[in-house]
Amino acid sequence: MKIFVNGAATTQFGELWGVSPRSLARGSVSSALKDARIESAQVEALFVGNMLSGMLGGQEHLGAFFAEELGLPVPAFKVEGACASGGLALHNAVNSLLSGQYATVVVLGIEKMTDHKPEDVATALMGAGSEEERNAGATFPGLYAILARMHMNEFGTTEEQLAAVAVKNHYHASLNPNAQFHNLLTVEQVMRSSRVADPLKLLDCSPISDGAAAVVLSTKNIKGSVEVAASVVATDTLGLAQRAHLTQLTATQRAAEKAYRIAGLTAGQVSVAEVHDCFTVAEVLAMEDLGFFPRGKAAAAIEKGETRLGTSAGIVVNPSGGLKGCGHPVGATGVKQVVELVDQLRGSAGKRQVENATIGLAHNVGGSGATAVVHILKK
Ligand code: COA
Repeated sequence: MKIFVNGAATTQFGELWGVSPRSLARGSVSSALKDARIESAQVEALFVGNMLSGMLGGQEHLGAFFAEELGLPVPAFKVEGACASGGLALHNAVNSLLSGQYATVVVLGIEKMTDHKPEDVATALMGAGSEEERNAGATFPGLYAILARMHMNEFGTTEEQLAAVAVKNHYHASLNPNAQFHNLLTVEQVMRSSRVADPLKLLDCSPISDGAAAVVLSTKNIKGSVEVAASVVATDTLGLAQRAHLTQLTATQRAAEKAYRIAGLTAGQVSVAEVHDCFTVAEVLAMEDLGFFPRGKAAAAIEKGETRLGTSAGIVVNPSGGLKGCGHPVGATGVKQVVELVDQLRGSAGKRQVENATIGLAHNVGGSGATAVVHILKK
């Protein structure tokens, strides 16, 4: 059985203080249904990807909450997997279709983070880490700083090369009307920004964001649909201390290998990828773990512009602006990545259009690599 994305939409991402989670959900889902040209009565189940609504907003029971809000009286499920909640919700939705249980479902990824104090958000995000990391006072910028330092020590990766990831992704975001940031950056600006967790600086970090994204999935190949060629999840230890490697994310490697096998494709055939650049070093790791570049070679390639719109001879990475430039409302990110790929594969991405895009890959990570979700989409 084949699974298709029939409709896809995102809201604006950013600091949306005047917008409620209810209206973010309504905006993204109604646009996705319109895009799929179906009525809400045809939807048979709702999958919601979200991480923080319980801890920050006191609202659990999100499946029923949004089913009521959206006027979809159907089976509804909240799926949580830290920053990979959106990707995991998609995976569960795909499986529900493959099982034959439903024929048309909606996936909503949503997060509202900016109404809360940054220190409360940082603490809530650390719910994705291990107990010992929390007890030690670690934060996610700190954990990814360890990964960055290890990569620098092993491969000679430089802070300037990491900065090049932010420069590229802000350039892509400047072309995306729904992105949180539209300002261009230079390597010097990134290097001069305040140190958050050495060697990572403010402009190496994805921001705290609000936003929602939705897709309609079904077993029907209607006009404008994009096929889901593979949907794979892998896990690893929650804590970094228990890992065998700190310069690669094993969960990403395992998810990608299986996804390529299921889709019958190789990394070299992917034309456009949306990867999980929660911190600049995370994009470097993803490029290597997904097999786009050999170990230790991705940072230099990104610095040379090899993954940038307009200059890439091979793969374009994060044309939406990624988490860094487009924003990272954690539960929404994995769904937004797929919305961007649908636009790219349809040829409707406007100024961000990747030439001859035929195969797209979405890579969504939870925590510091404890969950990895890979989706491969094709025209
Ligand atoms: N990139 C670019 N600009 C950013 C930014 C980012 N990541 N974060 C904040 N800014 C901007 C703000 O828009 C603001 O600009 P303004 O003064 O023109 O309005 C300025 O920098 C200061 O913002 P502020 O909200 O005070 O930043 P902060 O110090 O509270 O938070 C971080 C900055 C990096 C600590 C925060 O964004 C963060 O924790 N990011 C990581 C989130 C995370 O861990 N996600 C999960 C990943 S696994």
